[in-house]
Amino acid sequence: MLSDAQLERFRRDGFLHVPGFVEPAACDALRARADALIAAFRPGEQRTVFTTNEQARRTDDYFLDSGEDLRFFFEEEDATVINKIGHAMHDLDPVFARFSRTPAIAGIVRALGIDDPRVLQSMYILKAPLVGGEVRCHQDATYLHTDPPEAMVGLWFALEDARTDNACLWAIPGGHREGLRARFVRDGRATRLDVLDPRPWDDTRLVPLEARQGDLILLDGLVPHLSYTNRSSRSRHAYTLHVISGAAAYPASNWLQRATPPRGF
Ligand code: FE2
Repeated sequence: MLSDAQLERFRRDGFLHVPGFVEPAACDALRARADALIAAFRPGEQRTVFTTNEQARRTDDYFLDSGEDLRFFFEEEDATVINKIGHAMHDLDPVFARFSRTPAIAGIVRALGIDDPRVLQSMYILKAPLVGGEVRCHQDATYLHTDPPEAMVGLWFALEDARTDNACLWAIPGGHREGLRARFVRDGRATRLDVLDPRPWDDTRLVPLEARQGDLILLDGLVPHLSYTNRSSRSRHAYTLHVISGAAAYPASNWLQRATPPRGF
C-alpha cells in the first residue's frame, strides 16, 4: 500500500502526499452526491456557521450532535453558502459509505500503524469560490483526541485540484513532533479550548500541499496545518476521514461522542 520511503516521509514530515489515489470518475461521483445532498437540504430558521474563530463560544447543539448525523454548516462570510457537511457521512450516506470503507484505505491506515482501525469522522468540505473560509493553523488531535495521540490519522481526498490560489492545505513539516498545543474539550453541552502550550505556530515554516483531483494527503493527528480563505473563482472540494485505533482510549471529553461505537472496515 505504501512503500518504506513513503512511510519514512510520513514519519519525518507528519504528512504524505499520495498522488492519484482515487479515480477522477470516483471524485466526480462524490461531488455529484454532495451536490444532491445540498440541493435536498432545507435549512431551518437557525443556520449554524462553521468558523475557527471563537470556536468554543460558537459551538452549538447542531454541531455537538452532528457526530452521528449528516449536517450542513454555513460560511461565516455568507450564510447562504455551505461550508461543509459532517460528520457521519461514512455511516449514513450509501455513496460516501462505499467510498470510505475500501480495502485500499484500510491497508493504508494499517500501514500507518493504526491497529483495529475505526472510521470515526467524515467531512465534505466545499471551500466555495470567493468566501470559502479560512481554517486556522491547528492540529487535528486538538479536536479528536486519542490516548496515545498517534492512534489517529486524517485522510484528505482532493475531489478537485487544490492549488495555492484556491486555498490548498499548508502544513509545517516535522511540527507533529512538537507536542499538542491545545485541546478542544467538551463538558456536557459546553465546549472550551484548553491551551497546553501558548506559543503560536511559526507560519514561516508552512509549506503548501498542492494536490490534483484524486490525490490523497495523509495527515498525522499532531501535524499543524491550515488553509486560507478561498478568494479564487474556483471551488476546492475535499472529502476527509479521521480514523482511530479501536485499541486506543477515546476520552469522553472529545466533542464528538457516539451512541454506537465507530465501525471498522
Ligand atoms: Fe484539520
